[in-house]
Amino acid sequence: MTTTSFGFGEATKLVRSGSSTPGDAADRLLAQMSDKELLWLLDGDVPRFKVFTLPKLIAAGPVAAGRTDRLGIPGIRFSDGPRGVVMGASTAFPVTMARAATWDPALEERVGLAMGREARAQGANYSGAVCVNLLRHPAWGRAQECYGEDPVLIGRMGAALTMGLRPNVMACVKHFALNSMENARFTVDVKVAPHPLHEVYLPHFKAVVDAGAESVMSAYNKVNGEWAGDSRPLLTDILRGEWGFDGIVTSDWVWGVHDPVRSLQAGNEIEMPARLLRARTLHKALRDGRLSRDTVVTAGRRILATQLRHYATRETAQPAPSVVAGAEHRALARLVAARGAVLLKNDAVAGTPLLPLNVAALRRVAVIGRLATEANTGDHGSSLVHPPSTSSPLEGLREALPGIVVTHADGSDVAAAARIAAEADVAVMIAGMTHDDEGERISNENVDGTAVFGFPFTWGPVKWLMKKLSSGVAGQFGQGGDRQCLTLSPEEEALVAAVASANPRTVVVLIGGSAILMERWRGAVPSILMAWYPGMEGGRAIADVLTGVQEPGGRLPFVIPTDAAHLPFFDVGATSIVYDEWWGQRMLDRDNHVAAFRFGHGLGYTDFTFRLTGYGDDGMASVAVRNIGARDGAAIVQLYAFDSKASPPIPQLVGFARVELAAKADTSVSVTLDLGPLHQRDPDTAVWSRRPGAWRLVAAPVSPDAAAMATALADGHTLLC
Ligand code: BGC
Repeated sequence: MTTTSFGFGEATKLVRSGSSTPGDAADRLLAQMSDKELLWLLDGDVPRFKVFTLPKLIAAGPVAAGRTDRLGIPGIRFSDGPRGVVMGASTAFPVTMARAATWDPALEERVGLAMGREARAQGANYSGAVCVNLLRHPAWGRAQECYGEDPVLIGRMGAALTMGLRPNVMACVKHFALNSMENARFTVDVKVAPHPLHEVYLPHFKAVVDAGAESVMSAYNKVNGEWAGDSRPLLTDILRGEWGFDGIVTSDWVWGVHDPVRSLQAGNEIEMPARLLRARTLHKALRDGRLSRDTVVTAGRRILATQLRHYATRETAQPAPSVVAGAEHRALARLVAARGAVLLKNDAVAGTPLLPLNVAALRRVAVIGRLATEANTGDHGSSLVHPPSTSSPLEGLREALPGIVVTHADGSDVAAAARIAAEADVAVMIAGMTHDDEGERISNENVDGTAVFGFPFTWGPVKWLMKKLSSGVAGQFGQGGDRQCLTLSPEEEALVAAVASANPRTVVVLIGGSAILMERWRGAVPSILMAWYPGMEGGRAIADVLTGVQEPGGRLPFVIPTDAAHLPFFDVGATSIVYDEWWGQRMLDRDNHVAAFRFGHGLGYTDFTFRLTGYGDDGMASVAVRNIGARDGAAIVQLYAFDSKASPPIPQLVGFARVELAAKADTSVSVTLDLGPLHQRDPDTAVWSRRPGAWRLVAAPVSPDAAAMATALADGHTLLC
């Protein structure tokens, strides 16, 4: 092929000036392309055998698909991920679940903007940061990458991240759909009926698509018997037909496409990230008529039009390399970690709540636990970020408490730990999880060689070869997986008990990506702070919260039950599993189980009252908010709808807003409602309608229990909606 004068640059100019639509400009490019070039667009550019070096490639720079230098086509230039940019030495933000706990979409949008700038500054144009799978069960190994259990919260936060990313990079939302088990993700068939599929597991994907996400990543698992990456019902009928999505679908990596022709016909444009199944199949399929040229051109048009639209509308200024883990983004990471920290419990000791610590009266602080010296930024899967520096809880506390003796015991010797706790004014125990306990997992047991070699590696020598080659991948992705047990380890529980009995002024700081059951020790300690995987500035942020420099701003994005038996059925090794409409707080409410901590729970350092004052047809509610405490602070106003005639009524989150108020001040807050949870979709006609019911609205600091709903009804503060 000869070089041409109408390349991607010229096409972008026409789109930017409004003289061409992205689709028409894409057609002009497509008209110049050979079949070979067209097919090149449909998979990642990484050569097949380089798949085994992916962790290195990913850290070194973006991974491209469809880059075509002859026409100046950049291709998608992918970089993950959910807690920051995985290339180079970028800012490690608190994990997605920590950010979900901020209930603060405006803050999440700032995180998206920071991630987008860092990604673009390092050559990417496409980000895999937006993970919105719903947390159906807290054992899910990748829970930390998602926004919790509630469709409205997930949708708002995922949309905010998307809007933040888009000025600099195309946003990809993943994993479509029903990907919320880790060990079995490559094999499990998730069975789901139309109602829960559309009303529980998909609304937040739609919210992100509506926020302009340019791309959707298909999931590894099957949905109703068909691989999600090859599924026409998901990728075409729902995504494009019902939702009007006009961007591109890419597969999840390596094992996300099973049938190369069928996946393309189903609406999956790009097999990522390498020349695997499609590179071996599509040329021949096109020649022998199993694949029509129209299908290829339609996919090519979507790929190019999406890139053109992005390049024509993205922010013109190229971010400087210095934005990457620069002071501004590190400060944002620190703020977000404090805003997401959830104070679960803060009882009075000698008449005063233990937190914030009275720093002026401290002389000696004991920091206990093996995790006290770990920065613990999250799992070691595809979302692993390599920040230039980190801060452990011990370092953070030592930095925050100059002149105060801060001792440490790792807890391997329980008696020694109890001794230093007893000698201190306060004991801070850091307990919880690491990447060995939970996270993304790729292991020889759960993948096969079909995608890479073209046949399964059940044959001994191939198995051996695969193991050898995959050691680079396994080196990063090893361990992790779903949690087998939702409590702390027995050793850590014993350590908490010993420390708490040695010092009544004990704070437990929990590290982890999801619910930790704490019934065996919850009553023994006055204060519990859920700090998640708090990012590269995590230790400093934990110190900020404990010392009162910052309020713990977080609220739980899921329920913490008292017993794992109150949760839906979960089997780490399932080959098939049913997802229905009962999970999380809703399931506990239906079964009348009292939670350890309800969905939405979290304490601050002051107290608020909320009163619903109005609800209008414009979908806005107004709430009178008062800070009744003696300290400035912030609250999350939460609005729940419930059917007062249902037995039992089950509250559904329909809106929320963060409000900051000075001590004793009051204000009126307008909250935009999302009444999606009150609607149902007719499976035959795909028409949505209001669910019958006597719907009431209540403003609350936490998901209301039966008593709170009854009080709201009796007070007459509920309105018909
Ligand atoms: C994960 C995706 C990720 C991709 C690329 C896959 O293993 O499931 O979430 O975006 O790798 O890093």
